[in-house]
Amino acid sequence: MPEATVALVTGASRGIGSATALALARAGLSVAIGYRSDGDGAEDTVAKARAEGADAVAMPVDVRDEDSIDDAFRRVEGELGPVRVLVNNAGFSKDGLAVKYSTTTWDATIETNLRGAFLCARRALPAMLKARWGRIVNVASVAAIRGNAGQAAYSASKAGLVGMTKSLAREVGGRGITVNAVCPGFVETAMTAPATEELKRRYVELTPAGRFGTSDEIAAVIAFLAGPEAGYVNGAVITVDGGLSA
Ligand SMILES: NC(=O)c1ccc[n+]([C@@H]2O[C@H](COP(=O)([O-])OP(=O)(O)OC[C@H]3O[C@@H](n4cnc5c(N)ncnc54)[C@H](OP(=O)(O)O)[C@@H]3O)[C@@H](O)[C@H]2O)c1
Repeated sequence: MPEATVALVTGASRGIGSATALALARAGLSVAIGYRSDGDGAEDTVAKARAEGADAVAMPVDVRDEDSIDDAFRRVEGELGPVRVLVNNAGFSKDGLAVKYSTTTWDATIETNLRGAFLCARRALPAMLKARWGRIVNVASVAAIRGNAGQAAYSASKAGLVGMTKSLAREVGGRGITVNAVCPGFVETAMTAPATEELKRRYVELTPAGRFGTSDEIAAVIAFLAGPEAGYVNGAVITVDGGLSA
């Protein structure tokens, strides 16, 4: 059975994406480290992946822009080989109560978290179908399952991503390709940095594990789903949230 050789992780300049790229590098994959604006962060991840003995390149890709996605895939195909593992990790979040939420921010959230993941999957699938092997892992959120006041746009985008995951899993599951979603709980990254101390305390109280998750704990599950042992896991929505959604 063919195995994953080349992975593209979007939004891998920091946080969960960076940890995922490193977990895949440790598993022996060549990794393309996608980034939108944080080139230094991406280069830092590349250096760490190379220190693990992996081939790695930093790859500019704005998932809101179809041309940027196509350019990135072409470059990865040329520099590392065809993409066998796609991790749709790039994400955008801006909290705000619905009554005051701007249409522009709603659109940015859906375009990044949902439309962007679809565009990347659509670009990745033809080569995976041809190879009859592929792995797509969508990084959703516990917010897809459990609503949060102030997160209507974010929750909707991640719930949409879960729906897309299940439909794609059915569409391509007969061709050796799996499509799964991982739903992290609260992980301290740049995305969650604006949370107030009170909100963080509340999350810890609500989480049976009694603590936040780490990027490495999310990355480990994504790396498993990307690997050869996970061939019979398809269309799954796996919470990695310390029990928050239980
Ligand atoms: N942290 C949590 O508690 C948590 C919980 C549940 C789910 N998640 C999900 O996990 C994923 C990673 O989140 P994180 O916490 O690691 O966030 P983060 O540290 O803010 O990282 C977000 C990444 O997404 C990239 N990005 C943003 N907009 C992009 C775009 N239009 N095109 C391409 N890349 C873009 C950023 O790239 P640049 O910096 O280069 O612009 C950055 O690398 C997200 O999908 C998030 O929704 C996070």
